[in-house]
Amino acid sequence: MAVRKLIAGNWKMNGLKAGLAEIAAVRDAVESGSTAHVDVLLCPPATLLAAACETAATGLAIGGQDCHTAQSGAFTGDISAAMVADSGASHVLVGHSERRTLHGEDDATVRAKAQAAWNAGLVAVVCIGETQAERDAGTTLQVLERQLRESLADEATAANCTVAYEPVWAIGTGLTPTVDDVADAHRFMREKLVERFGESGADFRILYGGSVKPDNAAELLSVANVDGALVGGASLKSADFIAICKAVR
Ligand code: G3H
Repeated sequence: MAVRKLIAGNWKMNGLKAGLAEIAAVRDAVESGSTAHVDVLLCPPATLLAAACETAATGLAIGGQDCHTAQSGAFTGDISAAMVADSGASHVLVGHSERRTLHGEDDATVRAKAQAAWNAGLVAVVCIGETQAERDAGTTLQVLERQLRESLADEATAANCTVAYEPVWAIGTGLTPTVDDVADAHRFMREKLVERFGESGADFRILYGGSVKPDNAAELLSVANVDGALVGGASLKSADFIAICKAVR
């Protein structure tokens, strides 16, 4: 079954209230029907979540960028999945490489965060991907197998979970894997999902992320088993993000 593609934008630690105008522009594009062939998700910083949800109205999904493993408690500065859901958001990213690298999150933590997301009724976008050193060592597929196995709990379903493959060395660098490398990685992840979850493994979305831009989106998004994109820098400007949405065929 062909999986309907999802174009997701991750604003990371960017965006003040003025940025809501960019969200409004994406909403207008969605409401105009020009992106009707894809689902569209934006993940602004936590400070903008509630306002983004009000701005987005229907048709444009809003997600958080992270959540804690607990639903509440003495965790100063953290945000729970319940809070993300309470803001009106429907999705949350977990296990982004910047969280894994800069905040020391391992697969077990990422798995627990995804479970917290599900308990709050959110779709978890679980991010995985190899580093440059792992790629150079020829261990990309082993890394992906381990991260898929250990970051996804058995309760993962195509409805509550999206996988985002982001080669760490491609994030924010302007570098992308070759189309053949993307195809190999996505085929491998698909096989692992089907091995573990049976036929429904074919329905999980597997996004590609890492330097997706308007000028390379059509090629990357046409690769088999690439069910959408997780876009960082190019999601900050609505015109670029909308162009990427429109590049899906
Ligand atoms: O979450 C998004 C990714 O880290 C990709 O970021 O498009 O700026 O390379 P980028």
